[in-house]
Amino acid sequence: MTDGAEGREHRVTFRLKRDAYCGELGVEDHGREVTLNGWAARRRDHGGLIFIDLRDDSGVVQVVFDPRASEQSHGIAEDVRPEYVLGVLGEVRPRPEGRENPSMPTGAVEVLVRDVEVINPSKTPPFEVKEDVSVDERVRLQYRYIDLRRQSMHEGMKLRHRIIKATHDFLTAQGFTEVETPRLTKSTPEGARDFLVPSRLQPGRFYALPQSPQLFKQILMISGFDRYYQIARCYRDEDLRADRQPEFTQIDIEMSFVDEDDIIATTDGLLAEVFRAAGRELESPVGRMPYDEAMERYGTDRPDLRYRMLMDTLNDVFKTTGFKVFANALEAGGCIRGMRIEGGSAMSRSDLDGWERKAQELGAPGLLWFVLESDGLKSPVAKFLSDEEKDGLISTLRLEPGDAAFLMAGGRVACDEVLYQLRPGVAKKLGLIPNDDYRAVWIVDFPLLEYDEVEKRYKSLHHPFTSPTEDSLAGLEDEPLAARARAYDIVINGVEIGGGSVRIHRRDVQERMFKLLSIPPSESEAKFGFLLEALEYGAPPHGGIALGLDRLVMLLAGRDTIRDTIAFPKTQSATCPLTGAPDEVAEAQLRDLGLKGSSG
Ligand code: AMO
Repeated sequence: MTDGAEGREHRVTFRLKRDAYCGELGVEDHGREVTLNGWAARRRDHGGLIFIDLRDDSGVVQVVFDPRASEQSHGIAEDVRPEYVLGVLGEVRPRPEGRENPSMPTGAVEVLVRDVEVINPSKTPPFEVKEDVSVDERVRLQYRYIDLRRQSMHEGMKLRHRIIKATHDFLTAQGFTEVETPRLTKSTPEGARDFLVPSRLQPGRFYALPQSPQLFKQILMISGFDRYYQIARCYRDEDLRADRQPEFTQIDIEMSFVDEDDIIATTDGLLAEVFRAAGRELESPVGRMPYDEAMERYGTDRPDLRYRMLMDTLNDVFKTTGFKVFANALEAGGCIRGMRIEGGSAMSRSDLDGWERKAQELGAPGLLWFVLESDGLKSPVAKFLSDEEKDGLISTLRLEPGDAAFLMAGGRVACDEVLYQLRPGVAKKLGLIPNDDYRAVWIVDFPLLEYDEVEKRYKSLHHPFTSPTEDSLAGLEDEPLAARARAYDIVINGVEIGGGSVRIHRRDVQERMFKLLSIPPSESEAKFGFLLEALEYGAPPHGGIALGLDRLVMLLAGRDTIRDTIAFPKTQSATCPLTGAPDEVAEAQLRDLGLKGSSG
């Protein structure tokens, strides 16, 4: 019997079945005879000896083919190519002195092969299975099974599993019950477009895939379940980014007879457990920052607290300025915003000009830079500013010698957006972002509503079921934008990990909210009538939160995109190159669904 690739045709069994895992072998196994199964990761031919790195789910071990130990095995190994599936039988032995590989967990040992079986050959893979793969992501996703063979991808998936397990364990111990809610349901308003599923039995009608279990979890509270959670799949048809997928997973939580402090405390406890499961640490309890402070000092409600680079408004400093750029902005009702850059004088003039160009790419008309040196403030526009204005700039931004500052004039939102977008790049360049550091913050005291200039109506900052604060309730209709929400977001390292709120549990308040949002009664009845009705049957006060599981894993795995934390993610254009979804369907299917007339 030959074990070469050709001889394997028409066989469905394999001969060499493992009794050990590659990645688990070490010096304690010296002399042990083991059978291993795995993939040929790398093959090197060294003057008669052939070395193959054999990889399985647990890791990699070096196996050695020496013709003196088995001529037949050595002959077979000559034909082994990358990603062949092998069975090997051999003896674990120490590597010869000086040949140890300390960067490999099994680097002190190797397996001298006495028998080998090619269980399945492999075509030459479209890219090598190695960590620093530089191939186009589309190709990686098309051959996801090759991509996922990388050890870091296995580690990421296992980390995800540990995080899910820690979540189940922690919440179960806290008295939570996991309840599954429907995938085929009615639209839930989380601000994105719905994915729709046509109904065959009700032609012309559609289910929506849930954007979140929001309404069902509220109904569960009304059903008397005190503490609900679910590892819930959510679907949102929105523009995709590094931290957004059309299909993603939430750790979804809801609790009855609670206030915001209870939900925040439970989430702090959960996050501490999750971080522990990932071998990391998170300061607990997590501190809080009012929304207004986040917007003023970081220009965002997702502040990254790992480094400072704080912003300030400089309108007062320049209120009588003769410098046109600033004077014009103030006259137009705009503002002057500045951001301190600690140690920013380390940037060269061309670096600074480079950031100005970057700001322009982001849509800014310009960006002004300043550097505070021991002999004063330097900037291409310094000559246009009075000494008093320079002093005001230095003291407002709290600049120390060696610092730099970026200033922008214009509309508040536009200025902040640009400074916010520049912030991480500048911090990275200056080495201000510490490695392996996790800084979390609760953003609290959110406004309830914002005004949508395009649609000319108020919109919820969170969702329409978020309760206003008690203080805001009376003046809700008179001063909608002054109303505050009983809402909170948890942000870690500048990433929005989760958000939630105490909900409205009374029909009259919920109806006022729909009215404020310009949702006519007929529409609110059609869309949310079931919730409004349920609120009339003894709804308890309740609230909750949802954490983005994929984003949490991304942070804890040190990844830049959630696509690396999901086994089979979609591309930027929401396709799956592996399966070819979304795909066209047969005419007959469309006819069954009433989406196409029988004439075609
Ligand atoms: P929200 O819409 O803020 O709240 O979502 C909660 C968290 O889910 C994650 N998330 C996403 N992750 C990946 N891809 C996406 N497209 C995506 N969209 C959101 C984020 C976000 O913070 N029902 C409410 C929660 C509640 O009020 O209890 C909700 O879904 O990490």
